[in-house]
Amino acid sequence: MFRTIEWTDQGVRMIDQTRLPAEEIYRTCRDYTEVAEAIRGMVIRGAPAIGVAAAMGVALGIKNSSARTIPALRGDFERIAETLAGTRPTAVNLFWAIARMRRVFEDSLTGDKADAQGIQAVRANLEEEAKRILAEDIAINEAMGRHGASLLPDSGTVLTHCNAGALATGGYGTALGVIRAAVSQGKNIKVFADETRPFLQGARLTAWELAKDGIPVTLITDNMAGHFMKQGQIKAVIVGADRIAANGDTANKIGTYSVAVLAHENRIPFYVAAPLSTIDRSLDSGEGIPIEERAPAEVTQLCGVQIAPPSVSARHPAFDVTPHRYITAIITERGIAREPYTQSLSALFA
Ligand code: MRU
Repeated sequence: MFRTIEWTDQGVRMIDQTRLPAEEIYRTCRDYTEVAEAIRGMVIRGAPAIGVAAAMGVALGIKNSSARTIPALRGDFERIAETLAGTRPTAVNLFWAIARMRRVFEDSLTGDKADAQGIQAVRANLEEEAKRILAEDIAINEAMGRHGASLLPDSGTVLTHCNAGALATGGYGTALGVIRAAVSQGKNIKVFADETRPFLQGARLTAWELAKDGIPVTLITDNMAGHFMKQGQIKAVIVGADRIAANGDTANKIGTYSVAVLAHENRIPFYVAAPLSTIDRSLDSGEGIPIEERAPAEVTQLCGVQIAPPSVSARHPAFDVTPHRYITAIITERGIAREPYTQSLSALFA
């Protein structure tokens, strides 16, 4: 099995997701600026994986810092945090991870520590915390799998959009984690993977990851989902999330909203699997979720080949928001939430 991301003595090592499935190669980021570039350039992507990368980026930046005093180290921390926070705006796990690292930074400096002693404590604790966030993420995904597997049919085809698998997390996956858990319980699950235009996370990543695991996967283009739903060939839809507002409105990969509306029209359950770190309780509804707009060239080109007239204008909102009314249930590591989400999600935090 591959490792999506890991901490090594040389730096933060990650599988290069821009090269899959053609090549399975790993990149080592030796400084926080390289981690930030890897997040921005989609070498690593998927909300929980972005969170882990950001935490490791902070730890790496502080490890490499030449600050000799605590105020100077604090200045470096803010520069590192700002650079990482500026990479991708929608996945709230990025900001969640930086906030968690900031707490550890401050906690490491309590008491009257001399500069050298404080700096040493900060370095060691941030590295430990980043490794802990990775280990916790895998355990959280496994817990989500245990909760969510019962929602999937004993036998049948489940549709997923984008990649919410081991590649999008520390390991195991959110939506694909639930599918993995159901399969390991003996359920006869087959997967339809939307190709997920324009970045093709479904075609390149979900198909690769499931095939590697021996889970039957059939690739379809995004505009085929409605056809297969109407034919009764899809029993459930399960996706991940980049940010969930307090009322359950869910931002996920562009195209998720269309899939949810189609599922509703065809009376097919539509599930979201996400850790609590993806829930942004500061937002009452999905209207406040910032939507990343990526380069138009990602639409006018396919794997580097120009497919539209070079002068045509194009848009690339990377995410859309699915209103909570289309979501049958939200699966978290603490259990399953259903309408009314404002209450059920908040109960999971209690
Ligand atoms: O642009 P990406 O590839 O980072 O978008 C990823 C998604 O939309 C995933 O579905 C989401 O992050 C959940 S990953 C467990």
